[in-house]
Amino acid sequence: MHEHVTHPVPAEWAANAKIDADAYALKYRASVDDPDSFWLGEAQRIDWMRAPTKIKDTCFDTDNFRIKWFEDGTLNLAANCLDRHLATRGDDVAILWEPDHPDTPNRQLTYRELHEATCRFANLLKDKGVKRGDRVTIYLPMVPEAAVAMLACARIGAVHSIVFAGFSPDALAQRITDCESTIVLTSDEGLRGGKKVPLKANVDAACAKAKVDTVIMLRHTGADVPFVEGRDVDWAEAVAGMSAHCEPEEMNAEDPLFILYTSGSTGKPKGVLHTTGGYAVWASMTHEYTFDYRPGQIYWCAADIGWVTGHSYVVYGPLMNGATTLMFEGVPNYPDFSRFWQVVDKYEVEQFYAAPTALRALMREGDEWVKKTSRKSLKVLGSVGEPINPEAWDWYYDVVGDKRCPIVDTWWQTETGGHMITPLPGAHALKPGSASFPMFGVQPAVVDPADGHVLEGATEGALVILDSWPGQMRTVYGDHDRFIQTYFSQYPGKYFTGDGCRRDEDGYYWITGRIDDVINVSGHRMGTAEVESALVDHDAVAEAAVVGMPHDVKGQGIYAYVTTMEGVENTEELRKELIQWVRKEIGPIATPDVVQFAPGLPKTRSGKIMRRILRKIAENDTGNLGDTSTLADPSVVDDLLANSPHAK
Ligand code: WT7
Repeated sequence: MHEHVTHPVPAEWAANAKIDADAYALKYRASVDDPDSFWLGEAQRIDWMRAPTKIKDTCFDTDNFRIKWFEDGTLNLAANCLDRHLATRGDDVAILWEPDHPDTPNRQLTYRELHEATCRFANLLKDKGVKRGDRVTIYLPMVPEAAVAMLACARIGAVHSIVFAGFSPDALAQRITDCESTIVLTSDEGLRGGKKVPLKANVDAACAKAKVDTVIMLRHTGADVPFVEGRDVDWAEAVAGMSAHCEPEEMNAEDPLFILYTSGSTGKPKGVLHTTGGYAVWASMTHEYTFDYRPGQIYWCAADIGWVTGHSYVVYGPLMNGATTLMFEGVPNYPDFSRFWQVVDKYEVEQFYAAPTALRALMREGDEWVKKTSRKSLKVLGSVGEPINPEAWDWYYDVVGDKRCPIVDTWWQTETGGHMITPLPGAHALKPGSASFPMFGVQPAVVDPADGHVLEGATEGALVILDSWPGQMRTVYGDHDRFIQTYFSQYPGKYFTGDGCRRDEDGYYWITGRIDDVINVSGHRMGTAEVESALVDHDAVAEAAVVGMPHDVKGQGIYAYVTTMEGVENTEELRKELIQWVRKEIGPIATPDVVQFAPGLPKTRSGKIMRRILRKIAENDTGNLGDTSTLADPSVVDDLLANSPHAK
C-alpha cells in the first residue's frame, strides 16, 4: 500500500536545488556516456598537487582486471580537508562536538585549529616512526581527536585502520594483526549513554595477542588506567612538544588512504582498502549533491567513525566541502528520547543523517519526544545502512521533518566508499522505502541470481554494478584474490553487491536486503560465519548455525542454532552463558537474540547445512519449508520446529 504514495519534489526545491530533475538527467547521461570528461570535470573539486591527465582506466573482467582513477594525479587529502580552507574560512567551525551528556561542555574546532592539531599530531606520528604507507590502528570514541588522527595519517601518507570502539579485544587484535600495524591510538575510556567503555583496557588485552610497539592514549574521561612504560604515550603531553607545521605528503591518486574491516560471508573480516584520489572526488561529490550541501550550513551525520559512514560523511566529505560537521559522542536515547532533536535545535542543524534502527527505536517511544522540539532548521533528512521500512520512513518524514524535508535514502556499502543509489532532494519524487536512482557514474543492473543475465524493466533479482566509479574499493588488504573472488566471480565482469533488489515500473530501485550470508543488525553488518565461529570456540559447543531473523527495532536480529557436545546439558544457564560469550568474543553488537539448542542441524547428504530451513524457522514462516527430501535426516526439522521459541 505504501508503495503507491509518492511525494513530489517540493516547488522551492525544484527551483533552488543544486541538482534539479533536468540537471540530474543531463549529468547522469554525461557521466555514463563520456566518463572521462565527466570525471575530469568533477576532479576540479580537488586541489591536486599534480593534476591528473589520465582519468579512468578500469576493467572488471578477471583476466584483464584493473581499477585506476586519476592515476597520474597527486594530492594530499588532509590538505584538501584543511589547508585549502584556511584563507577563505579558517575561522569557520570545522568540527562541532556534542558530548555524551548535554551538561558537559561542548567543543568546537575551527578549520585553523583543526589544521594545527592535525599537524602536531602528524609530527607525533612521525616522531614515533610512522612512515608513508604504514598502517595505524585507531580505536577511539567519537571525539574530535578521532578526526585529528585520521587527518594526521592522511597528511603523512600513513594508512589508517579504524576499529569501531565497541569491538572486543579479540576483534581488535585480529584487525591489528591482519594489517600488521604496530601502533594503536586510543583513549582511557569511551562514554556512551552514561556508560563507560574500557578502551585502554581493551587495547592492553589486544596487545597481549598482537605485536604492538606504541599505544598513544588520549585522556578523555580521566580514568586511572595502567600505563606501560616504553610502549604507552600520553597524547596531550607528547603533542605539546610537537611543531604545528607539517608539510602534507604528496600522494599518488592510487596510493592507499585507509583500510576498514567489514564482514563477509566467511568468518574472517575483510580489510577493505580505499585509495586517495578517486575516494576524495567521490566523498566530496556525493556529500555535496546528496545533501545539497552549501558552505555555512550545519551538517550532522550521526554515524560513528568506526563505520564507513563516519569516514565519508562525518569527516572526509564534509571537510573537503568546507562544512561545519557535527560529531556526537552519545546515543539517541540519553538522557532521554528527545536528544537527537534537542541537538538539532541547539546547533540549528540543516542536514541530519542517521540509521533506520535509531529511528525505529525512537518511533516506539511516541511522537511527544519529537514534537516538543522545534526542528525548523532541518532541510534534508538522510537514512543509511539498511532498508528503511515505509512505516519508519513515514514517521521520519511526517513527525521529524514536519512533511517539509526530503528524505535521502542512501544505499551504499563500505566497499563503495560513498552513495551509490539515492534520491537527490531537488531531483526526485520520493517513494517511501526506495533508494530510488543511481548517483552519477553508477550503472546498477538487476540480474537473474541463477545465471547472471541482466533483467530489463520492472523486475527483481540480484543487484550488480556494471562499471567502476571513483570511490570503489581497490582490494582486500593482503588478499587480492579474495577481492576478485568475492565481488567479480559470481557474475563475471560485474561487481556483485551481495544485495537483492527490485526495480519498479518507474525505474526506482528498492533494496530488499542481503542475499548472501551477511546479516544487518541495527545497520551493522555481520557475517553469520563470524558469530558461528565465536560460538564453536566455546567448549560446550560442537556446532552452530546462525541466521538473521526479523526484528522490530534492529531490522534483523541474530538467531543461533547450537548443537552442544556429547554429555553437555542444555540448560538455561548455558544459553545465557553462550549469549554473553559471543558478546565478549566479538562485541555487544553481535549479541544473539535467540539461542536455540538443536540436537542436529538440517544437513544435506553432502553435509551442507540447509540455511533456507533455518531461516524459515527463525522467521516463523514454517508453513512451507520447501523441499526437505535431500536432507540426510529429515527428522531433525521436526525437533527444530518443536523447540523453536515461536512454538512455545
Ligand atoms: C550493506 C552495506 C552504507 C554504509 C553503511 C553500511 C545495506 C546500506 C542501505 C539502504 C537498504 C542498505 C545493504 C548493503 N544498506 N544502505 N539505504 N537501503 N540497504 O555499510 O556495513 O558496508 O553495509 O548495508 O545490505 O550491502 P556496510
